[in-house]
Amino acid sequence: MAESELRTITGVFRKDHEEVGRLLAALDFSTFGKALAGAEAFARRLERHMAWEEEVLFPAVGRAEPSLAREDLPVLRAEHARLRWLSAEVLGLLRERSPKAERRAAELCEFLAEHSAKEDALVYAAGDRALSPAEAGEVLAAVELSAARSRL
Ligand SMILES: [Fe+2]
Ligand SMILES: [Fe+2]
Repeated sequence: MAESELRTITGVFRKDHEEVGRLLAALDFSTFGKALAGAEAFARRLERHMAWEEEVLFPAVGRAEPSLAREDLPVLRAEHARLRWLSAEVLGLLRERSPKAERRAAELCEFLAEHSAKEDALVYAAGDRALSPAEAGEVLAAVELSAARSRL
């Protein structure tokens, strides 16, 4: 990806989607300990990503495009609740060493991919289209600061 593309909403958030998705897809179920460690790392990154969206990106895009704030952003926020629930389920099943954990992780992986594709098409594209360069710069600066602080 070109450096200029990385400094767009789509570039930054799509890259994070790829990294978060890879952590989940790479879970090693050969032992519960390995799967749990991987799932915990995934859950931290997922939570950070959703916080960037809920606290920074969605409010900015919603102000710029009120129709998104009315129709699509509430759906995406509800999907975040389901992602949190599924992620907590996977962690819980792994802690109790349940063989159901792998199936739940696959379900989470599928739902996360659908959610991410929807955001990419609806919200990230709108962010790059509707935010002024100053507004987009504020969003990206907040994300970069959070990334530097959390070091995940
Ligand atoms: Fe999201
Ligand atoms: Fe996202």
